[in-house]
Amino acid sequence: MTRKVKIAVFASGSGSNFAALEEACKNGELNAEIVLMVTNKPEAYAVERAKKAGIPALVFRPKEFESKDAYEVAILNALRESGAEWLVLAGYMRLIGPVLLSAYPSKIINIHPSLLPSFPGKDAIGQAVGHGVKVTGVTVHLVDAGMDTGPILAQYAVDVVDGDAEKTAQAIHAVEHYLYKDTLSELFSR
Ligand code: GAR
Repeated sequence: MTRKVKIAVFASGSGSNFAALEEACKNGELNAEIVLMVTNKPEAYAVERAKKAGIPALVFRPKEFESKDAYEVAILNALRESGAEWLVLAGYMRLIGPVLLSAYPSKIINIHPSLLPSFPGKDAIGQAVGHGVKVTGVTVHLVDAGMDTGPILAQYAVDVVDGDAEKTAQAIHAVEHYLYKDTLSELFSR
């Protein structure tokens, strides 16, 4: 078995993707170790999940910093201390700025609940259902300075269920939880 890749997971919400990645690291499906969970939301359930899994969770409140650069420098210091080699965004609802992009070139990955470039940004599933599309999906991509842009690594189509956002979200999340670990596993073995 080769050395485990050290990853930091960024999350702002419920953290179900964080949990799926943590499970995949634990059972060996993903040859990686989550060394840090970073969030901008102290109330995010992802923080509870990290605590239960024994993974350090750090909260950085953007408003407490004088600029986006200062916010990201603080995160970068923690990342360096943790030894993180890749940044894995799992429902992190902030744009990554130049500080982190230049510190981790081509080493930041994101998952998004649509077939990009359709429906970037917030509430991608609601956007898809609102437009009446019959098929949406999941995209895993390298992060650049844009909103849910950057080279696409993997995509998987998911049918919209009964024109219903809640039911479609369930189907999307189920796909996310295996597509993310499989894509990262392939990427880390290159
Ligand atoms: C996921 O559906 C993820 O694709 C999405 O946030 C959700 C987080 O769920 N990310 C984006 O929309 C990024 N633009 P989780 O907190 O249960 O993992």
